[in-house]
Amino acid sequence: MTSRIAVLASGGGSNLQAILDHFDALGERRGGSVVVVGTDRATAGALERAERRGVPSMVLSPETRGGAQSIDRLIDEHGVDLIALAGYVKMIPADIVSRFEGRMVNVHPALLPAFGGRGMYGTRVHHAVIESGARVSGVTVHFVDAQYDHGAIIAQWPVPVFASDDAGTLAARVLRVEHIFYPRVLDAVACGRLSLAPHAPSTISADTKPAFTLLPHEDSRLAENIELALAR
Ligand code: GRF
Repeated sequence: MTSRIAVLASGGGSNLQAILDHFDALGERRGGSVVVVGTDRATAGALERAERRGVPSMVLSPETRGGAQSIDRLIDEHGVDLIALAGYVKMIPADIVSRFEGRMVNVHPALLPAFGGRGMYGTRVHHAVIESGARVSGVTVHFVDAQYDHGAIIAQWPVPVFASDDAGTLAARVLRVEHIFYPRVLDAVACGRLSLAPHAPSTISADTKPAFTLLPHEDSRLAENIELALAR
């Protein structure tokens, strides 16, 4: 099984880039292809990244339905069967969320269920983590349901919070891990190795194989986070 993936992004699109790069590196082994990029902002960096790779893109008008700039059109025109949110800040219409149950994923730059929910995006997340005094933050990839940052958690990876951190330094450390982690989890979902358990929508089914293997240099980049946590 391979999936036809739409990536939706509102911002710089560095996660989109990481996904495109990882899927290119996987070549024929990839679980899906990014067939279209959607954004709600005509100035989003994601548009340029898509264009550079020859991936079609659409500027969405999230409030309209069925028209030329609608999410419905994006899905239908490109035969999309998996949606990856990568910094997309608009609410997805409820009927699309329900039609894509188990086929829409999001990356969140903290360890849900903490530090998520309405209004918790961008640097606000990292500010809240620092203010809470938590020593660990991280990356969460989850299925999307009708509530912000609420659907079944697919995978998480921890990132240390240092006493010297501000929201910017923490965001940068978390983002480095997102770039490694999200494309791999997305690939595992795209080829069906990780899925929403039928009849139990808050749990995940995984087959017996590891969902992905890290390359040696990536392994050490993640390990570096753990070593640094002990050295603080
Ligand atoms: C990431 O931190 C992601 O977790 C969050 O929005 C940010 C998007 O960054 N949902 P980018 O546009 O991929 O660079």
